[in-house]
Amino acid sequence: MLNRTRIESVADMVEFRKNGVRQPARVALVPTMGALHEGHLALVKAAYGIAQHVVVSIFVNPMQFGPQEDYSRYPRVVDHDIALLSSFPHTVVFTPSAEDMYPEGPSWTVISVPGMTGTLCGLKRPGHFDGVCTVVAKLFNIVRPDFALFGQKDGQQLAVVRRMAEDLNFPVEIVGVPTVREPSGLALSSRNRYLEPHERVQAASLYRALSAGRERFGKGERSRQQITQAVFDVLRAAGIEAEYVALVDSRTLEPLEQVGRQPAMLALAAQIGAARLIDNVILTP
Ligand code: PAF
Repeated sequence: MLNRTRIESVADMVEFRKNGVRQPARVALVPTMGALHEGHLALVKAAYGIAQHVVVSIFVNPMQFGPQEDYSRYPRVVDHDIALLSSFPHTVVFTPSAEDMYPEGPSWTVISVPGMTGTLCGLKRPGHFDGVCTVVAKLFNIVRPDFALFGQKDGQQLAVVRRMAEDLNFPVEIVGVPTVREPSGLALSSRNRYLEPHERVQAASLYRALSAGRERFGKGERSRQQITQAVFDVLRAAGIEAEYVALVDSRTLEPLEQVGRQPAMLALAAQIGAARLIDNVILTP
């Protein structure tokens, strides 16, 4: 392994993979945009459960932000992120610049999974998942991991990346890791830092709403209409107007009228103050 834990250029990362990892050691990649929190640390911990080397990439990917989105104000706190990773001292932190990742400006090649991205968050964020897939594919080619870990909180992202990796035969196993929550139930997210204290209280209702839907499912309800109604009831009481509340197949993201034999994802998105928040629960029959 190189005698350092931070790699700042694509060329050095490629070199590290060529000469820094002795076979048969396994490499896991945790792709992030930084502003790390306990949710990311859970990904790193899970990565060490399956691999000897863990690479955490920190890259705020311009390609996945729309023109009106928060690219310029997205928190960039690399020193804090590296300090937070101190409990995993052997972790390699990969922090390429945008110029290094996209040396000729926006990528000419774009990876799309159109069958799964015209729904849920993709409706409000056209092009977002193309940006995610393209940068994740680039990271796969640069880091060449055996495993890549993604949080279940971004359920659509997890499903889309899994599809991309399968369709394009990336030799990477995609591993989903359960959502980490605050005691209030609020899913940890780098964007929670945009919330004012009273909005944080309101945001905790998102998980309460999903839990109400899951409870109805637990009592035997299978219809989308009834399950999402339970979600909407809690959201309405909390004064939250959701961008969407949806019941979809957790693997294909196809909309469901009924939960069948496959796990379903009950997902929502809502704007709370300056933060657009998403969350989901999996309903397993
Ligand atoms: O989930 C994220 O933080 C980003 O979408 C990812 C996967 C790091 C790609 O930029």
